[in-house]
Formats: sequence, C-alpha cells, structure tokens
Amino acid sequence: MASPAPAPPAAAATHSPPPRIGLAGLATMGQNLALNIAEKGFPISVYNRTAAKVDSTLVRARDEGALPVLGHRDPRGFVLSLARPRTVVLLVQAGPAVDATIDALTPYLEPGDAIVDGGNEWYQNTERRIEEAAARGILYLGMGVSGGEEGARNGPSLMPGGHVDAYNNIRDILEKAAAQTEDGACVTFVGPGGAGNFVKMVHNGIEYGDMQLIAEAYDVLRRVGGLSNSEIADVFDEWNKGELESFLVEITADIFTVADPLDGSGGALVDKILDKTGMKGTGKWTVQQAAELAVAAPTIAASLDGRYLSGLKDERVAAAGVLEEEGMPAGLLEKINVDKKVLVDRVRQALYASKICSYAQGMNLIRAKSVEKGWNLNLAELARIWKESLQGRWCSDRMRGDGL
Ligand code: ATR
Repeated sequence: MASPAPAPPAAAATHSPPPRIGLAGLATMGQNLALNIAEKGFPISVYNRTAAKVDSTLVRARDEGALPVLGHRDPRGFVLSLARPRTVVLLVQAGPAVDATIDALTPYLEPGDAIVDGGNEWYQNTERRIEEAAARGILYLGMGVSGGEEGARNGPSLMPGGHVDAYNNIRDILEKAAAQTEDGACVTFVGPGGAGNFVKMVHNGIEYGDMQLIAEAYDVLRRVGGLSNSEIADVFDEWNKGELESFLVEITADIFTVADPLDGSGGALVDKILDKTGMKGTGKWTVQQAAELAVAAPTIAASLDGRYLSGLKDERVAAAGVLEEEGMPAGLLEKINVDKKVLVDRVRQALYASKICSYAQGMNLIRAKSVEKGWNLNLAELARIWKESLQGRWCSDRMRGDGL
C-alpha cells in the first residue's frame, strides 16, 4: 500500500486577507468544523496542543479541495494570525481542557476579541468563563454543536449563547457553516449566559429519548411481530417517508441492512452487537435539571434508566436464567399471534405520539430554565434550528404551528 502523502508544512502565519476566525482543538469535531468553515470560503487558522493533529488537518484541507486552512503549532502565532476583532473557536474536551486552552490563548487576545467554546460544556462553567473573560474585555460564547462528525463537516445545528456581540462578529460565518433548510440556516443566537449550552444539553437529552423510543419500537416489531431484519429495515424506511422522517429513523433503517463482514453466511451485523451501552453525561444532566426544576421528563428519564439497565449485562443474563427456571422462558412474547400489518401501524402511531410527548418534556424544561434565569428563550426558533440535526421536519413544523 502506498504510504500517505506527507503533511504540507504548517502555513506561514500570514494570509491575505488574514482569517477572522481560528479554531483550537483538532480532534474529530474540531477538524471537521474547521474544514466546513474553510469550504464556505472563510480562511481559518487552526491550532492543536499536539502538533500531529495540525498536520492531519492540513492534509485533509489539501485533499478536500485546497481549502484555506492555516496551521499553527504555537498559541501565540495562532492568535496573532487572526484579523481583529479575533474569534477563536475551541473544540476541546469539556471541563479542565477548556480552561487550560483558554489560559494558553488569552495572553495574546485583546479587548474586543472573542472565545467561542463549541464543546458539550456544563452551562455554569460557561457562565463562570463569561465573567472571567469579561474582566479582560474578552467576549465569550458557549455554543452547542450538533450533528456529530458528519454534521460538523457538512452542516451542523449551532446553538450559540453568551455575549451577543461575539455572535454578531461571526454571524455570517456561522450562517454559512450551519445546516441549511427552507426555513433558513440552523443557527440562531440562543440567549445570554450559558443558554446555548443548556439548550444543547436538553437537545441531547431529547435525542436520548428518541433513541430509546426507536429501540423499544424495534423490540416490539422484532419480538411481538416476529419481523425479520429486512422487514424492519423496510418498515423504518417507510416511516422515514412520513411524519417520522428524521435522521435517527433514517439511519435505523440502514442499520438493519448491514451484513456482518466476518459472517460467511451473511448474517446481519445488528444481531452481533452487544446490547450494552454507556453515556457521556448530557442526558444525565438533563434529568438532574428536570428534577431541580420540578419538570416531568419521564421519557428522557426512562431512556437514562434504559442505559443503566443495559450496562448490567451480566445481571440481566443471570436474571433471565432465574425467570426461565420459574417458568417464564425467553421468547414468550414471540408466541402471541398478531397481524403484522396492524402491529406495524400501531407501533408507528405509538412512536409518533411518544416523540411528541418527549419533545414537549424537553421544551418544558427549557421554558422552566428560561423563566428561572430570565433568558427569554424563543422555543420556536429552537425547534427551527433543530430541524436537520434532530427531529426532522415534522416536529419543527408542528411545534411552530402550535405557537411554541
Ligand atoms: P472528540 O470528541 O471531537 O474526538 P474530545 O475528546 O472532546 O474530541 O477532545 C479532544 C481534544 O481536546 C483534542 O484536541 C485534545 O488535544 P490533544 O490532541 O493534544 O490531545 C484536546 N485536549 C484534551 N485535553 C487538553 C488539555 N488539557 N489542553 C489542551 N487541549 C486538550
């Protein structure tokens, strides 16, 4: 196999015109967002603590169309390469890494420059950093970035909150980089303080709920309906043409069509995946916030419980043995006689109704926080900017129609 082409050298710290925006933190999300911004015609300086990721970003920038990405290996050269007022986007691990990166960059920033943290940060950390930055005259945004790797590269949903001037400095860039819909770009200024991070946290909680609902719909189709993987793929594909149309339903349909490459007989990969999952934390924060604010969020809470239980694989296997001994063999549900067509339609309706309930729970939580903090959040705008990343067309249209 040919060895990969050598990395182009880090560009000199000049560019004509100099970039208005820089991005620090070139792991998966950062690298893809930087390339997206460059592709939209905005030159961008990039920096990472470990230089190898600067090199790999430059290789991609070259290979994906000679994109205007300028690499820097030191924080000073990185910051000083930017036109004033400077905007530095951070995409490093939430928590202490954000503080460490801010500490490395701020000596070179000047009053009027801005920091934009694009990670899944706890909203109170952002509120603390807004104050710390303000003491030096620096503007600050906490910006939720949704859509994963693919979204970051081709069009994420962006949820910036904090200092509105920092947003206005780069509004044109964000509007081009975000996902595009017939209702506009999937970005809006969410609100002050940690509002952007809070909204992104609830967005993730809603996504946990969506995934749990889809998993339960699958379980009923499989166990009660006895549908095969290819039948289930067709069902989700069909659902994706109607009111359930969404990214998660679309990829669920695809999952059932993938064969296990290690299985010579062509068995489905989905049946080989261990039914055990973990989580990163935003779902847990969502449920904690719901409890704090006395807002019912049963779907999101149940999805968290589902994940905790899925993690107890050994205990579940042991419990199945006990149930079997007590006369409740596995596969009991499979013995129920059902009309597949009727079942599929009922599950579709149940999934739709549950989704509406789940989104209402998330929106209620955001509304409660908005009242508590005086954020004055616009829920209809949030539904609009989630259109591509999360729920698909149906929910946005419905929520806006309901005047949320
Ligand atoms: P992703 O989920 O996108 O893959 P992540 O794990 O959230 O990424 O964050 C990884 C990024 O945080 C990397 O850019 C990493 O820098 P290195 O490549 O040098 O490891 C950065 N990061 C983590 N801890 C950091 C710290 N203490 N200071 C600066 N950057 C840090």
